[in-house]
Formats: sequence, structure tokens, C-alpha cells
Amino acid sequence: MSTFWSIWVTVIVLGTVFGCWWLLLATRKSQVSDSETERTTGHSFDGIEEYDNPLPKWWFYLYVATCIFALGYLALYPGLGNFKGLLGWTAVNQWEAEVASADEKYGEIYAQYGQTPVIELAKDEDALKIGQRLFANNCAVCHGSAARGQVGFPNLTDDDWLWGGTPDAILETLRNGRMGNMPAKGVMPNMNAAQVDQVVNHVLSFSGREKDAAAAEAGEAVFAQACAACHGADGKGMQALGAPNLTDNIWLYGSNYEWIKETVLHGRQNEMPAQSGRLSSDQIQILAAYVYSLSN
Ligand code: HEC
Ligand code: HEC
Repeated sequence: MSTFWSIWVTVIVLGTVFGCWWLLLATRKSQVSDSETERTTGHSFDGIEEYDNPLPKWWFYLYVATCIFALGYLALYPGLGNFKGLLGWTAVNQWEAEVASADEKYGEIYAQYGQTPVIELAKDEDALKIGQRLFANNCAVCHGSAARGQVGFPNLTDDDWLWGGTPDAILETLRNGRMGNMPAKGVMPNMNAAQVDQVVNHVLSFSGREKDAAAAEAGEAVFAQACAACHGADGKGMQALGAPNLTDNIWLYGSNYEWIKETVLHGRQNEMPAQSGRLSSDQIQILAAYVYSLSN
């Protein structure tokens, strides 16, 4: 906030508090008047007159206390333009303090699980409950609350793995993230339209769904040249590269001719973000056990 706006805000805030104070004192009447004319406001509605009695004491003092409280609050907390308040409170440091106290409270529970091997942890009901909550907060946006994924985001419950389903592979995925990279036309940038059709048919033939048997057969050579380096000669994939198994009829993207053609023509880039900067290693251990438990 610039100095001008800071002063502007300060003047308005303090002006309001003192204005309320002034209004109270200026209109205050401390005693019941003796004279009959001064005891009423002077208004008369259908013969009914309104008394002009002093404010009840409790009300008066409550009002004064409110003004004093407001000034005290403004001295301690930010509220007057750029003035930070004597306590130095900010939303960020309050949040940090809460995180620190949560770490103190839950850190021990997490630590106890953090030392347990994933396979053992995956049998621990309490750990899995924590894992489910961590998953809902950190992973469900992409993988879905039931971890079944959606187009481009793998299903974690089906025991079909891009990068591997062993505890170590899952831990590696969570800690450091994964970059799936399928180049357009594989490693055959000069692939022509007929060859694209052939190789797509060949991929479909892995799950017995080719549209054109002759093309699918011709696609075998194209596949060997352009695709096998990553997906394997038999199309069963390669977890070291995150290259999916194309023979199991489980698809990260669509399964029909058009989707596969799209993948071949334009490639696919996909990222699982690394979690080690966001979550503690104990939390990652618990999540790995949760993910492991979904398909074991
Ligand atoms: C921003 C979206 C996003 C978030 C958040 C996310 N993931 Fe992922 N995750 C992905 C994508 C995309 C992939 C697939 C990467 C690829 O295609 O190679 C993936 C892959 C994975 C894999 C590997 C699956 C396999 O078949 O090998 C695991 C395990 C996984 N995620 C678990 C998690 C967990 C646990 C969390 C929560 C801490 C999480 N993910 C959070 C997007 C996300
Ligand atoms: C450099 C390695 C590499 C080569 C070469 C390659 N792919 Fe891929 N392919 C991948 C990776 C990695 C993925 C996963 C992309 C992702 O995670 O989004 C993938 C994904 C796919 C998919 C999507 C699978 C699904 O489950 O939806 C299809 C289909 C596919 N590739 C077919 C091919 C064909 C056909 C070729 C040859 C023309 C080929 N790939 C060449 C690495 C490769």
C-alpha cells in the first residue's frame, strides 16, 4: 500500500472510532430532568409523548468499552494502513505456528509409521485411514477420490503400472515425480499416413480389435522400428520409461482408433508432480502404503 492510501485508511478507521465516541458524548444526557418539559423529546404522536431518559449505565459503559477495545485491537493487530501492529501478527505466521503445532502433535504418529516397511504398513488399518485422508487432500484432485483416475491420470487400483507397483517404484514416483514422454510418431519422425494407419491397427490388434487385418500385419514392421524401443517388441511396455503396456486393454487415454491415432500423431507428455517438497518423508511412506494397498 502506498503511503497515501495508508494514511487514507488510517484516518478513516481512527475517524470512525473517535466519531462514534464523539457522538456518544455529544448526545449524552446524564440525569433525569426534573422539569416536565425537558423530560420528553418534545415529540407527540397521537398524544403519546416520548421520554428523553439518559442511556442505561450498562449500555453506556459497554459502548465505551467497545471503543477502547477497538483502539487496543488496532494497536496490537494490523488494521491501520501499513502499520503492522505491535504483536507482529500475520495470517502467514499464524498458519506456520499451526503447522508447527500440528507437526508436534502428529509428527510422532507419522514418524512411527515412517519407519515401517510399505508392505507391512499396507496391512495397518490405522495407517491406511491416515493414508486415505492424505490421499483425499493431496492426490484426489488428479487421481479421483476413489483413485480410479480419469483420462490422462492413471487408475491406481488396477494393478497395471506405468512406472511399477513395487513399494520402491511407488516411493520413487511419489518422492521425485514422473515425466511420461511419448514422442510424436515414436522414433520415426518421417512416418507417412499409411504407416500411421498400419501401426494404429497393429496396436489395436494387441487387444484383438484391429479394423483392418492386412494393415495390422503391415504395422508390425512399423511398430518394430518406431515403437518397440519403448513399448517392447511385444507391446508389453517398459516401466523404466513409463511406457504403457499396449496389450492389456487398460488405457490411460482413449482405447479407440481415433485416440490411438492422436497419440501416435502428436505424442503425449504427462507429469506426476514430485511430492518430496510438499509432504514429509513419513507422509510419503504412508501414502505409498495406501497406494500399494489399493491393488494388493
Ligand atoms: C497434478 C496432478 C497429480 C497429482 C496432484 C498427483 N498425481 Fe499421481 N500422477 C499424475 C499423472 C499425470 C501421472 C501419470 C504420469 C505418467 O503418465 O507417466 C501420475 C502417476 C502416478 C503414479 C504412478 C502410476 C503408475 O501406473 O505407475 C502413482 C503411484 C501416483 N501418481 C500416485 C499419486 C499420489 C499418491 C499422489 C498424492 C500425493 C498423486 N499421485 C498426486 C498426476 C497427479
Ligand atoms: C520414447 C519412448 C516411446 C516411443 C518410441 C513410443 N512410445 Fe508410446 N508411449 C510412451 C510413453 C512414455 C507413453 C505414456 C505417455 C504418458 O504417460 O502420458 C506412451 C503412450 C502410448 C500410448 C497411449 C497408451 C494408453 O494407455 O492410452 C499409445 C497408444 C502409444 N504410446 C503407442 C505408441 C506407438 C504406436 C508408438 C510407435 C509409433 C509409440 N507409442 C512409440 C513412450 C514411447
